[in-house]
Amino acid sequence: MTQQLLHADATDAASPLFSTTLSLPDCDATGWVVVDSMVDGLAMGGTRMTATVDEAELAGLARAMTHKLALVDLPIGGAKAGIRPNGPVRDRHALMRTFGQVTRPLLHGGVYLGCDQGTTHPDRDEFFAAAGYDIATRPGATRLDVDWAEFWRSMVDITGFGVATAALGALRAANAATPQRVVLQGFGTVGRGVAQHLAAHGHRIVAVADVLGTVEDPAGLPVAELIACTSTDGTIDRSGLPASVRVHDGDRAWLKVDADVLVLAAGADAVKEEHVSSVRAGLVVEGGNMSCTKDARRMLGEAGRTVLPDVVVNVGGAAVTGCILAGVAPSGLNVPQMSAWLREWIAGKVNRNCELIAELAASGVTEPVSALLADRNIAW
Ligand SMILES: NC(=O)c1ccc[n+]([C@@H]2O[C@H](COP(=O)([O-])OP(=O)(O)OC[C@H]3O[C@@H](n4cnc5c(N)ncnc54)[C@H](O)[C@@H]3O)[C@@H](O)[C@H]2O)c1
Repeated sequence: MTQQLLHADATDAASPLFSTTLSLPDCDATGWVVVDSMVDGLAMGGTRMTATVDEAELAGLARAMTHKLALVDLPIGGAKAGIRPNGPVRDRHALMRTFGQVTRPLLHGGVYLGCDQGTTHPDRDEFFAAAGYDIATRPGATRLDVDWAEFWRSMVDITGFGVATAALGALRAANAATPQRVVLQGFGTVGRGVAQHLAAHGHRIVAVADVLGTVEDPAGLPVAELIACTSTDGTIDRSGLPASVRVHDGDRAWLKVDADVLVLAAGADAVKEEHVSSVRAGLVVEGGNMSCTKDARRMLGEAGRTVLPDVVVNVGGAAVTGCILAGVAPSGLNVPQMSAWLREWIAGKVNRNCELIAELAASGVTEPVSALLADRNIAW
């Protein structure tokens, strides 16, 4: 049977395949599930919970999921869910249970909803339980020898792994010496994973930024110690830092630190047009979603910087779920074997796409991601 891709209007992110509003009774919150596309009845994406999330933001993110999954050739469409509480959440467990009950028909019908900004793996486990949903029992999914929650404990660094793989590939292609000086904006799940993998390959993490500011040591920050004094939401406890570490307050102090590699792993629009001339690194890696504005990305390219785009490099987490959901990963492996299989698969896809992007950019193509998607019959 040929694959069936359903896409409402591939040229307009405001036109998903369908979008539904959730009332979330008794939770004083509004929710949405936006499905941008489906392939053979499957779509997937995370669940974002912020005070400002809205349907338009989710439509853009669901479109990005379509792109990410297509670029790694997974037969799954893109989706995104959102929860916007009307104030402080009084009972998070009740909210997650209600979200699971309300989205139950979608989950069982092929729309996988994981976690995203503002939701955690325990939240996801709670709404899956309320929906009676278990990926392991889905027809066609890869069989795991542990439950989904336990499996994910071995994969927490996977998006950072994919981002670091992309950076290492670009450094290899440029014959860059080791160590390179790395600045990381964002020290959450993605940033910490990138730091661990780049440091393990001999590179020097010279500065790390979180929501409070930037910490810097030109001789190299002690990554393991830094992680030990960082909260799960990615805030570094300044009181536990070694004396060699300098602390800078203020937004974008990280832009002033000399670096060869800049990894952006926080929110959107970290680098806008007005910041381009301040970027010192030759290699800019978009670990977060939409870390550079479209114009900033173009201007960085014109200024001779290499930019590795988000939809190509930060696909690790989505790829893990996608490989299991669509049954692409083999069944019957134990957790270490499955982890190794998935890491090799993700590294292969990320490296190949980065090479193609570099070839397209070298031949003068200004929107290489768009060209890669066009090869898969998907508009940018
Ligand atoms: N976690 C994943 O698997 C995954 C996958 C794909 C994309 N992403 C995207 O990557 C980005 C980071 O995700 P995460 O899971 O690491 O998030 P997170 O919430 O765990 O961490 C975010 C980090 O960014 C920092 N930060 C926030 N505002 C900042 C600012 N103005 N300046 C500097 N630092 C700031 C926070 O202090 C924290 O260290 C987000 O855009 C997310 O949507 C994440």
